[in-house]
Amino acid sequence: MKRSAWIGILVMGLVPSAHAADAPARAVPLIVPAPQTMPEGPLGEAVRQGLSIVNATKAALPDNVGNGLNCSSCHLNGGTVANAAPFVGLWGVFPEYFARSGRVETLADRVNDCFARSMNGKPIAVDGDPMRAVLAYVAWLSTGVPTGASVEGRGFAAIASPARAPDAGRGAQLYAQRCASCHGQDGGGLKTGDGSYVMPPLWGPQSFNDGAGMSRPSVAAAFIRTKMPLGRGGSLDEQDAWDLAAFVTSMPRPAYAGSAKDYPRGGRPAR
Ligand code: HEC
Ligand code: HEC
Repeated sequence: MKRSAWIGILVMGLVPSAHAADAPARAVPLIVPAPQTMPEGPLGEAVRQGLSIVNATKAALPDNVGNGLNCSSCHLNGGTVANAAPFVGLWGVFPEYFARSGRVETLADRVNDCFARSMNGKPIAVDGDPMRAVLAYVAWLSTGVPTGASVEGRGFAAIASPARAPDAGRGAQLYAQRCASCHGQDGGGLKTGDGSYVMPPLWGPQSFNDGAGMSRPSVAAAFIRTKMPLGRGGSLDEQDAWDLAAFVTSMPRPAYAGSAKDYPRGGRPAR
């Protein structure tokens, strides 16, 4: 990252949380519906199929997933966790303007953004059963959230600007101490005998590509600060999280072909 960009961050203070810039101001509590409220019949089958796609994406849609991740690798616990980009409440906030594409996006567009970038794969058909299932699951998760309201903890947490420019070398040391036991010394995650990942890759050919939101240091820092190490979220301080994010996002990963076309109307974040 250019030095001038970092100066910009230091001046700006708090880095805003990473969801759409024009998100509605109204926020309501995040309440996950009880599993027994899943509908019966064909609608319930679609909701359950959506849940299983989110939790085991590669197994469900091998032609559309180009890496070792599942949606729930980042949208924790099936998209139900605050500050891990929860799906709860999303049904009523789209369509929404999205600065990265410079257009109004539907919920299906946003799902496909993550297939192309976070999953380093290919969009799924907007008129196919897998998309219908994912949308049915998000709609069910959004039960009771008023149209136009976002839940508290939508997107990722805000994180204070780093006190000093992030240090990837220090991040590498912290990685070895705090992260490598699960994500692997080489960042490649941990596989079971059948080839599926029990621990997701953080970099390398099986991770998210460089067009993904998680490849931005501010998004990675916010996620790491509040959610990692898994089960011990909040145990790292903000500088640790920025240093770790600087390290992880500097490591090699698949290239996203369309990045140059992002932010066509401006507003590209500095980090
Ligand atoms: C590597 C982490 C990662 C994975 C894996 C991932 N996403 Fe995302 N997702 C993000 C990030 C980061 C954002 C925030 C927007 C951005 O910067 O791209 C996001 C945003 C979203 C949003 C919009 C959320 C909002 O509040 O507006 C939806 C919907 C979504 N993802 C769906 C999915 C689905 C479905 C999958 C699986 C096919 C998936 N994502 C996989 C990281 C991920
Ligand atoms: C106890 C094991 C464990 C430790 C330690 C751990 N993680 Fe994770 N991490 C996970 C799991 C598991 C997921 C996926 C979430 C899920 O499947 O529930 C994940 C997801 C992630 C993701 C998003 C998905 C991806 O592959 O990109 C990032 C980024 C991440 N971890 C970074 C870190 C960093 C940085 C550290 C060290 C501070 C760390 N993790 C420590 C288990 C761990």
